[in-house]
Amino acid sequence: MERGPHRRRSIARLLEGAVVGEQVVVTGWVKTSRFSKNVSFVHVFDGSTDKTVQVVLDEALALAYKAELGVGAAVRVQGEWAASPGGEQSVEIKAHEVQIVGASDPSTYPLQKKRTTLEHLRTIAHLRSRTNLHQAVVRARDAISWHIHRYFHEHGFRWIHTPIITGSDAEGAGELFEVRAGDKPEGFFGKRTFLTVSGQLEVECFAQSHTDVYTFGPTFRAENSNTARHAAEFWMIEPEMAFADLDDVIALAEDFVRTVTQRVMADLPGDFELFDKRCPECGAYRPKEACKECGFDGPGVVASLQAALAEPFARVTFHEAVAILQQVDRAWEYPVGPHESLQAEHERYLAEEHFGRPVFITNYPREQKAFYMRVDEGGETVSATDLLVPRIGEMIGGSQREERLDMLLEQMERHQVEQEELWWYLDLRRWGSTPHGGFGLGLERMVLWMTGVQNIRDVLPFPRTPGHAEF
Ligand code: 4AD
Ligand code: MG
Repeated sequence: MERGPHRRRSIARLLEGAVVGEQVVVTGWVKTSRFSKNVSFVHVFDGSTDKTVQVVLDEALALAYKAELGVGAAVRVQGEWAASPGGEQSVEIKAHEVQIVGASDPSTYPLQKKRTTLEHLRTIAHLRSRTNLHQAVVRARDAISWHIHRYFHEHGFRWIHTPIITGSDAEGAGELFEVRAGDKPEGFFGKRTFLTVSGQLEVECFAQSHTDVYTFGPTFRAENSNTARHAAEFWMIEPEMAFADLDDVIALAEDFVRTVTQRVMADLPGDFELFDKRCPECGAYRPKEACKECGFDGPGVVASLQAALAEPFARVTFHEAVAILQQVDRAWEYPVGPHESLQAEHERYLAEEHFGRPVFITNYPREQKAFYMRVDEGGETVSATDLLVPRIGEMIGGSQREERLDMLLEQMERHQVEQEELWWYLDLRRWGSTPHGGFGLGLERMVLWMTGVQNIRDVLPFPRTPGHAEF
């Protein structure tokens, strides 16, 4: 944007580069205002940073605008960038001109000063991005997304735009939203179509032409699980590599999670200061000692992320994990055994208590996982991996893929996946098939992990969950 005294600059830009004495223009929304006889202050935010800018009004301006400069008003201020004596900030704007761009009546403004609950804010999701926590979460989500793209491009991966509308159930889990147009039974496409649950099968085609690729976009699951970790619409990152085995997939996943986490934390120090003030257990703002709401007295989110990254991630097979769980003296809600699947309680125990850091679980029983995973020697397990992290449980699910046509056909038969639907997927094994693999990371799970926010409904701009599709 053009520079000059009449051009607005974001608060982030001003704090970075404005020179004391310079004429500047700032635009944003009023967060707080304090009027007194001699000098009045208005704090303005614009989302570009966690910082507000302090606008100082002389008596005349204060008198003229006092009634309109209430919380929530959109304003444009022109003035001098000045050193700020005392107080929290080192610079401020001495206002010469104030313009009320959009008035806001503080008596009806839905975001009142006193802290409202996150549950209540979900009912006003169109306004909640103006609150402190959501301001920070939006920036974190954006930074994570950006660093994900950066990471893959630095490592030579191409971003492939896989389709949203598909004709196949990539996970074979039957959690599909059907897409319909008009009332013809065969529909718009001449066949039944669905919103994608995963771009994996399509991106595999590009791994067999461009070697290292990834897809990053929205995915949809009609699973009726009302948990704090599941949404019907969420974003998934799915890298896929040709000429790669399970060890390569795990090495990529660890380096990727580590690098993105460290870079995002380094980019947003102010926002992480805020996340760190919340109790990782219940979300209450707490002093450094035990939480007044729930009694939790463990480390804050920043220390817990640092601890998680301090050592290499752990790695055990499914059967080793089961043995660990069987030795714990605890009344599990769900059974533990070689033929039972790991439930959230088991996953959290492994990551949080047993290992105390992220852990890859590998080689799951064949019947527990999707049809495309590579069958291990012995035929009992598949070359799958889930990455479990403290506080969240499963953050990543991945595998080496079955590249052998005969084995893939057998897997499809066992999992009752129709060959006719996936003729093209089978073709990949006919000409130039390679050992290959990849993983899927749920973006929201990573946002939850990094921010310490408890519920997936609070890290999606407009969450879609069973019974909820407002906005
Ligand atoms: O484990 P999932 O189902 O794996 C796949 O979809 C594979 N196709 C990935 C691959 O290998 N390319 O999902 C991957 C990740 C999970 O680990 C979880 O983080 C997230 O996606 N996820 C969800 N996140 C929010 N809401 C839901 N309903 C989710 N279901 C899965
Ligand atoms: Mg999974």
